[in-house]
Amino acid sequence: MQGDEEREGGPRAPGHVPVMLDRILALLGPALSGPSDEDAFLIDATLGLGGHASAILAAHPRARLIGLDRDTTALERSGRRLEPYADRVSLVHAVYDEIPQVLDDLRIPRVDAVLFDLGVSSPQLDEAERGFAYSYDAPLDMRMDRTQALTAEEVVNTYSVADLTRILRDYGEERYARRVAEAIVRERGRAPLTSTSRLVDVVRDAIPAASRRTGGHPGKRTFQALRMEVNGELAALERAVPAALDALAVGGRIAVLAYHSLEDRIVKRAFAERVTDTTPHGLPVPLPELQPRFRLLTRGAEQPSEKETTTNPRAASARFRAAERIREREGRPRGIGGMPRGEDPPSGRSEAGGTA
Ligand SMILES: C[S@@+](CC[C@H](N)C(=O)[O-])C[C@H]1O[C@@H](n2cnc3c(N)ncnc32)[C@H](O)[C@@H]1O
Repeated sequence: MQGDEEREGGPRAPGHVPVMLDRILALLGPALSGPSDEDAFLIDATLGLGGHASAILAAHPRARLIGLDRDTTALERSGRRLEPYADRVSLVHAVYDEIPQVLDDLRIPRVDAVLFDLGVSSPQLDEAERGFAYSYDAPLDMRMDRTQALTAEEVVNTYSVADLTRILRDYGEERYARRVAEAIVRERGRAPLTSTSRLVDVVRDAIPAASRRTGGHPGKRTFQALRMEVNGELAALERAVPAALDALAVGGRIAVLAYHSLEDRIVKRAFAERVTDTTPHGLPVPLPELQPRFRLLTRGAEQPSEKETTTNPRAASARFRAAERIREREGRPRGIGGMPRGEDPPSGRSEAGGTA
């Protein structure tokens, strides 16, 4: 949920409206409601409040949800919301790069749809004591999974100026990254930084007055950067997107909502690697094993409509990409022996799917 004040600790509208819900329903729908009458498996890798998941379950009676979240509070809340579909729902406390282990444990070799809606959720921002929001005074925590050890307090009190500068520049796109990092290190020399409000003061004082007037809340970029560092967000995504693509059956679809340019770049690259024919130039015939295994369902990164961002400002920085598996690894296209012998997926959906 990075990228704008509404989503990063500033003023918020009540409740949570799932971002680009209609588009996600339209693009994942064909993978969840093909001609087969067997179950269709959906992984929601970022379950949150279960807004997208409940809409998908309502629209697709054959869909079975594997809902992941690293935040146990999110799992408790979404579990209550998804009670009407309890017989079709498995909730798992996991980081999304654990998708392969989760599927192994559930004995599900292939799935039909995967959804990622990245970043922090509205309830996480609203729970002041979790330290995600620069607008509340709270301990410097920022862990999505409160069972992990690393907190924002440890980052600001132990990282070097160089590392803090890198994080603030790369994750926060903070123009004054070095100045802010130096101010943090100077201030923590007086007394450890333990609260969000003291950090906000330090950051505000480090940013030149002229920029303070124009650049939004001075804490916004620093808080975003620290949250991404504490939760190892980009590293987990680098592993998770390829794992999710590998888990898809032929005809299966993946949809990703990213809110930060670095997240979107990871998604774009992972998709691009799989939609390209890598047969070397000069060969007389395309090599089946080097044919694209996926096709893109979106042209570039789609953005929410102006109408959506007007009513739901949290959606403003969203970048949406989707893709469909069209071929097994061995390069056999769907419809002509798409599954290798003896590898039929349990969902029976190797031939299911459709067009966007
Ligand atoms: C934006 S919210 C999802 C909202 C959800 N789509 C809805 O409609 O309610 C993102 C959720 O993903 C979770 N999350 C973020 N990074 C994660 C990760 N690496 N692994 C698992 N869950 C993660 C957060 O804890 C948060 O609950």
